[in-house]
Amino acid sequence: MAFAAKVSEVPEWGKKLVQVEGQSILLVKTKGVVYACERECPHQGAPLEGALVKEAGKLSCQRHGYRFDLTTGVCAEHPECKLRIYPVEIKGDEIHVDLS
Ligand code: FES
Repeated sequence: MAFAAKVSEVPEWGKKLVQVEGQSILLVKTKGVVYACERECPHQGAPLEGALVKEAGKLSCQRHGYRFDLTTGVCAEHPECKLRIYPVEIKGDEIHVDLS
């Protein structure tokens, strides 16, 4: 587990792009739950810091609208595209992410 950011640095219904162990990781928060995923859309590589957060636990790519489940990484409409999700642990006000 590696420190990624403080919980308070990720806006509710928002995102924060961070560097963890040299990798770009996107943090997303909905309804107080923090998720961590890869930065690039698995469809055609759009940078997901521009993605839309419209539903709890989901991220919608801004380029073609693929919608990913932030717990499983699955895109129900396009199951061939799976977003990489990283386990998150909250320690006090700190977000820790497992990149292994
Ligand atoms: S690049 Fe993300 S949906 Fe196409």
